Amino acid sequence: MTESSDLRMKRIPLNHRAGQIPALGFGTLIPDAAATISATKDALQVGFRHFDCAERYRNEREVGEALKAGLAAGGIAREDIFVTTKLWNTNHRPERVGPAFEGSLGRLGLAYLDLYLIHTPFAFQPGDEQDPRDQNGNIIYDDGVTLIDTWRALESLVDHGTCKAIGLSDITLEQLLPLYDSARVKPSVVQVESHPYLPETELLEFCRQKGIVFLAFAPLGHGVGAGPLVDPVISAIAARVGQTPAQVLLAWAVQRGTALLTTPKTAARARENFNISSLPTDALDEINQIQTRRRLNDVVKTGSPGFIARGA
Ligand SMILES: NC(=O)c1ccc[n+]([C@@H]2O[C@H](COP(=O)([O-])OP(=O)(O)OC[C@H]3O[C@@H](n4cnc5c(N)ncnc54)[C@H](OP(=O)(O)O)[C@@H]3O)[C@@H](O)[C@H]2O)c1
Repeated sequence: MTESSDLRMKRIPLNHRAGQIPALGFGTLIPDAAATISATKDALQVGFRHFDCAERYRNEREVGEALKAGLAAGGIAREDIFVTTKLWNTNHRPERVGPAFEGSLGRLGLAYLDLYLIHTPFAFQPGDEQDPRDQNGNIIYDDGVTLIDTWRALESLVDHGTCKAIGLSDITLEQLLPLYDSARVKPSVVQVESHPYLPETELLEFCRQKGIVFLAFAPLGHGVGAGPLVDPVISAIAARVGQTPAQVLLAWAVQRGTALLTTPKTAARARENFNISSLPTDALDEINQIQTRRRLNDVVKTGSPGFIARGA
């Protein structure tokens, strides 16, 4: 196996002997239903085997449809792919967790999930309205449930076997520490925004020590202007090593030991984002020395998704 295929095929073991997560993941935060189906099929076809979904993306049905068709067309077994979905903020009450999980499984058309995450540590008013607001437009939170109450319900899902691993998303190290201490089933994965402008070094170090997989979302800085994709250090390395800036950013993320989620929406970009190869050590060092700091998604502050338009 060549060095470049090593990065593309890298799988990271999960704790609790819950299998392995492919380091390169495809994210399904795509607002358009038809684009969700075509992008998911393209990702599977070029080689992605890790798919990140969420109840809140409101497209689990389309992702499930694309995966079903893509697996059949490519002769790929369910066991060869890794599928995650996430519990939304309005379902944090323990009695709502099981039905929310079953709802996601049904929409995805799957018999089990590889990973189920608490989407954010913020509990919203329970109910069908995913973005409950008061008359002033403020989010209505739910102070009748704690994060550990919700976590206990996720632990039960692991006990029942339809969910192989559980974890958290959009969580800070300060929020993770007490949960980690109280958890009977320790988190397998923590999913947070991370790129060279937000390396989250302390959280990554904690995850390394505890055998938790650090899963980076927005590794390309969500493609927004003035983000890491157009950073001069990244562009210079890309030119030097003959890769694109996107490939440099994705290789850096995998080589620093994280898993990642990226969202290419065309077949050409899916190929580009999958076909990454190792960077030399001096390039990794240069990226680690970038001093710009920028968070693109404020979901960690409110629980309201930063990359989803209000009302969508
Ligand atoms: N837990 C959370 O709260 C949370 C929050 C956000 C995201 N996520 C997950 O993480 C996934 C990835 O996040 P993300 O969408 O921000 O990832 P990303 O890959 O950093 O950003 C995607 C953006 O980058 C652009 N892009 C993709 N490939 C490119 C390339 N090769 N060259 C130039 N631009 C490129 C895309 O542009 P085009 O649109 O033009 O193709 C798109 O706008 C999501 O789909 C979701 O599954 C989780």
